[in-house]
Amino acid sequence: MMLPFQAFAGLVPQKPDALLALIAQYRADPRADKIDVGVGVYRTETGETPVMRAVKDAEAALLNEQTSKSYLGAEGDQRFAQLIWQLVSGSETLGERCFGLQTPGGTGALRVGAELLVRARPDARVWIGEPTWPNHAPIFRGAGLEVRTHPYFDPDTAGIDFDAMLAALAQAAAGDVLLLHGCCHNPTGTQFSREQWRMLSDLCSQRGLIPFIDLAYQGLGDGMEEDAQGARHMLATVPDAMLAYSCDKNFAVYRDRVGALFIRSRTEPSLQLARTNALTIARSLWSMPPDHGAAVVRMILDNPALRADWEEELADMRRRLQTVRQGLASAHPLLAPVATQRGLFSRLPIDADAIAAVRRTHGIYMPADGRINIAGLNQANLSRLVDGVLPHLPGSRGSSVSSPSRSQELSA
Ligand code: LMR
Repeated sequence: MMLPFQAFAGLVPQKPDALLALIAQYRADPRADKIDVGVGVYRTETGETPVMRAVKDAEAALLNEQTSKSYLGAEGDQRFAQLIWQLVSGSETLGERCFGLQTPGGTGALRVGAELLVRARPDARVWIGEPTWPNHAPIFRGAGLEVRTHPYFDPDTAGIDFDAMLAALAQAAAGDVLLLHGCCHNPTGTQFSREQWRMLSDLCSQRGLIPFIDLAYQGLGDGMEEDAQGARHMLATVPDAMLAYSCDKNFAVYRDRVGALFIRSRTEPSLQLARTNALTIARSLWSMPPDHGAAVVRMILDNPALRADWEEELADMRRRLQTVRQGLASAHPLLAPVATQRGLFSRLPIDADAIAAVRRTHGIYMPADGRINIAGLNQANLSRLVDGVLPHLPGSRGSSVSSPSRSQELSA
């Protein structure tokens, strides 16, 4: 017998996620010389996204040593959280008035944090910079918070428009939330200077704003210590603060979904309130986080030899990103700002039509906002990317300094 109604017929149609759709389009392209500068994963000079050596070793040890897969609880692996806190804060323990919770990736951390804010401050508005990772606003809106935007990136200087940011934040009210990228901004590769972090910390303290730092690329910018400086200053000086951490990129455990949420609160009773609420939220979202990836990260950080090997491989990754940045920057003056940016991404001033055209003509796959994944480039394809995009950059006369012969060949 037919049901009298269709259960899902009233749903609003949704567009596929643009970044995930781009991965599928790239895979389906038969061209051997196609270039993937789309999704944010690290790639080697030969285009692979390998499992890191220390991760492989820890996984092998885990396979041998693990005697039970019984539940750990909604807070997940507490030693893992403590070790990640050590990376973030530089201090051995979770410290006073701080609570850490293991989450499925940085996204899980952002979502628990957002749900916690809804409970604590339902009228709070979340201020996010433009542009930002496309999933930020949906996470906060999905939890029920109002999202406001402030200027962040200035395409004319390819840097941060800090004055415009501060001017817009004059509208923020006490109890509002300020979302900040800890380092290696996605999608622009720009980063706050120490002085700007200090100013933002003062702003949050003086105006009663709650900083929520998204730290997803520690170690891929200037170094593990350097990339944490801004977050450290903020956490040390602003009494109520939150931080979402992702191990997806710096341990290359993307699909294992490894992350943590840290909450600092000004008094012990309010911290306990935040803690018990965060745990009930996590319980209702995923009950308990997946263990494998966090256990592997914990084993690496707890073992001096594995840790040293992980740090070494991460440093190699960071150096390769820097080399590619230097290569792009020296290929043409219009690309010079790329050298001052950090992490996986830079954003080129190229419009959606031109992006579609370079995809069609050159097999270059980048999202519609002009973001490029620096790690998708190598010595073999860098000049082809430059030649593909250069004619579309404002102010370009359409020729690459680095590879005139290839440019001539393409324009012939
Ligand atoms: C990206 O920005 O490419 C990554 O963080 C992957 C994602 O989930 O969007």
